[in-house]
Amino acid sequence: SPSDPDLVERARAAKEKLGDKVFVLGHHYQRDEVIQFADVTGDSFKLARDAAARPEAEYIVFCGVHFMAESADILTSDDQKVVLPDLAAGCSMADMATAEQVAECWDVLTEAGIAEQVVPVSYMNSSADIKAFTGKHGGTICTSSNAKNALEWAFEQGEKVLFLPDQHLGRNTAVRDMGLSLEDCVLYNPHKPNGGLTAEQLRDAKMILWRGHCSVHGRFSLESVEDVRARIPGVNVLVHPECRHEVVAAADYVGSTEYIIKALEAAPAGSKWAIGTELNLVRRLANRFAPEGKEIVFLDKTVCFCSTMNRIDLPHLVWTLESLAAGKLVNRIEVDPETEKYAKLALERMLALP
Ligand code: 13P
Ligand code: SF4
Repeated sequence: SPSDPDLVERARAAKEKLGDKVFVLGHHYQRDEVIQFADVTGDSFKLARDAAARPEAEYIVFCGVHFMAESADILTSDDQKVVLPDLAAGCSMADMATAEQVAECWDVLTEAGIAEQVVPVSYMNSSADIKAFTGKHGGTICTSSNAKNALEWAFEQGEKVLFLPDQHLGRNTAVRDMGLSLEDCVLYNPHKPNGGLTAEQLRDAKMILWRGHCSVHGRFSLESVEDVRARIPGVNVLVHPECRHEVVAAADYVGSTEYIIKALEAAPAGSKWAIGTELNLVRRLANRFAPEGKEIVFLDKTVCFCSTMNRIDLPHLVWTLESLAAGKLVNRIEVDPETEKYAKLALERMLALP
C-alpha cells in the first residue's frame, strides 16, 4: 500500500535535520515505505560491512532485525549509537539457540570426547551471546553469501563443524558446496537429552547441525517448486539457502538476497522467475523488473512476509528519526563489553574470509 504522505514528509524532514549525524541501513526484506529512506540497502553480510562505513555518523538506524543491529553495534565504534526502530523486531530462528542450550551442547560434545575437533560456525542470524560462544571456541560467523568459504575455513581448522542455528543453510552448504553427504550430517535437538544423539553418532558425524530453521523459508516445499514449473513453462526457480534441502535441490539457482537481486539484474528480457524468499523483496523486484519484460513471481501460492522484519514500519521510523532529531536517544541496541569482545573476534574472522 502507498505510504501516508504526511508520514513520508515527517520522515524526510527529520532525516534532513539530522543530516550526516544519522546513517540509515535497510535490509532487503524491509517494507517499501521504509526502504525508501535507507542510505544503503543490502543482505546481512553487506550491511554488517557497511555499518562501519560511516564512522562520523553518531546514530546508525538499523531497519532490519535485532541480531543485525547487535552485529552493527559490535562492529562500530563505542561512541556510535545503533538504534532499532522497534525493539520487538527479533528473529524466530535466532531465538532457537540460547546461550544456555549452546553451552549444554558443548558439554555434550566434550563428554563424547570430540569437542577439541569441533569448530563452531554460527550463522549471522544468532544472538550476540552465540556469536561470543563462537569466538571463544575458535569459530567464525557466516552469512548466506559466504557460508561456503566459512565451512572451507572451518574444515581447515578442525575435523568437524557445529553449525548453528540454521540446519538448512548448514546442510545445504555442506552437501552442495563441500561434497559431504546427508549421512555426514546429524541433527542436534536442544530440547532432547544429549541433543537426541548417541556419542557414537556424534563421533561419526562431520557436520553437527543445530535444529533451528526459518519459519518464513520453511513454508516453501518441493510441491511449490513442482507447481510453479507446471504453471509457468521455462521458469527459473531461484531460492534462498534457508529453504529446506529438497527445495534447494530442486531449484535452479540458490543464493542470498543480494545474489537474488544481482541474478535478476543480469537476467535477459522475457525470462521468467519464481523466487523463494521473503515477500517484500519479491514484490519489489517484480515491480522493478516488469518494465524490462522480466516476469517475477513468488514461489508459493500463499503470501509470506517475515512478520518481525515487517514490524519496522513507517510510523516507527518516523518516531525514531524525530526522537533523534529532538536530541532524544531511543531504542539503543548495546552489546555488553565482555560479549562484544568475543563476538567481535568471530565476526572479524568472517570479514577476513576470502
Ligand atoms: P541475507 O543475508 O540473504 O540477506 O538473509 C538474511 C535473512 O534473514 C534471511 O532470512
Ligand atoms: Fe529470521 Fe527468517 Fe525473518 Fe530472516 S526471514 S529475519 S531468518 S525469521
